[in-house]
Amino acid sequence: MALKQFNLLSFIFILALISLSPIGQAKRNTPSDKKPSPFEFIKTVQGCHKGNKTKEIHNLKKYLHKFGYLQYPNQTHANNDDFDEALESAVKTYQRNYNINPTGTLDATTVSKMTTPRCGVPDIINGKNTMQKHGTKEHESNSSSKHIHTVSHYSFLPGNPRWPRSKTHLTYMFSANTPAAAVGPVSRAFQKWASSTHFTFSLAQSSADLVIGFHSGDHGDGNPFDGRGGTLAHAFAPTNGRFHYDADELWSVGPVQDAFDLETVALHEIGHLLGLGHSAVEAAIMYSGIGAGVTKNLHPDDIQGIKSLYNV
Ligand SMILES: *[C@@H]1O[C@H](CO)[C@@H](O)[C@H](O)[C@H]1NC(C)=O
Ligand SMILES: *[C@@H]1O[C@H](CO)[C@@H](O)[C@H](O)[C@H]1NC(C)=O
Ligand SMILES: *[C@@H]1O[C@H](CO)[C@@H](O)[C@H](O)[C@H]1NC(C)=O
Ligand SMILES: [Zn+2]
Ligand SMILES: [Zn+2]
Repeated sequence: MALKQFNLLSFIFILALISLSPIGQAKRNTPSDKKPSPFEFIKTVQGCHKGNKTKEIHNLKKYLHKFGYLQYPNQTHANNDDFDEALESAVKTYQRNYNINPTGTLDATTVSKMTTPRCGVPDIINGKNTMQKHGTKEHESNSSSKHIHTVSHYSFLPGNPRWPRSKTHLTYMFSANTPAAAVGPVSRAFQKWASSTHFTFSLAQSSADLVIGFHSGDHGDGNPFDGRGGTLAHAFAPTNGRFHYDADELWSVGPVQDAFDLETVALHEIGHLLGLGHSAVEAAIMYSGIGAGVTKNLHPDDIQGIKSLYNV
């Protein structure tokens, strides 16, 4: 009896703790420790173009390398501040992917796009530009009525990895360090994907197909997070199943100023878990950028992508 009472009390105590807990790093969100975003430096190279040599160019090269746009065989060129031909070409590819006039100059539009917080999964993987694959493929229900056609911009990850045909039910679980507040939003995101695809999902206690966790900085998978802002999350292609949130972000349930919506980010990362790459459609959940205080839902482009990948 005494034991039962203790269990009940500790249960209530834990419940109280959970409901009082800030999500992620919310308690640190005071104006005094507002650090600049890891992408903030890009503002200092606005206006730069080929031939310029400016302090932060080497960091821009790192940024474009991280997201797959730039590869130097010679490390001297990778680490210097010369706005060279290779960098110009990378900037142009970035601009084409994000529907910006491909001038190769870091104009305000390009800088604004590049400084948007985003998913850590690259846009170009092993030389495959995931944002262009279907960029020119038009689903012409009728090609002679040009203004009616819709252009599909979803993409697959390199090699089109996907879950086996028979595996339409996937289980998921959370790593031990997951804030309790994340469980609901992630589960809702799975239910949204389930209601629009042939997949079903359920929560498991162990050995699940998909594992969701919160990680900080370098966490051992070769894709270090970068603190507040910058990259927000990443996930691996089928059938790896790992989905990591950046634990240093300010996370929220629903739209909250300066915070990132757990469910919106989950919808995006689940897309990667199922095999989708980034989409050039800004309204699609698989678009790489995610604004603070913004919520998004699945878009026909995302659904079409899964249906096409799995031939359903
Ligand atoms: C870039 O180079 C141009 C000359 O081509 C120069 O006028 C401009 O000030 C340079 N910009 C920066 C940010 O260094
Ligand atoms: C790398 O580039 C630098 C500067 O252009 C050059 O001096 C060096 O010889 C190059 N190294 C190799 C291995 O090509
Ligand atoms: C496309 O539309 C035009 C006129 O709107 C029509 O004449 C033509 O037969 C249509 N083609 C197809 C393949 O549906
Ligand atoms: Zn992504
Ligand atoms: Zn990770």
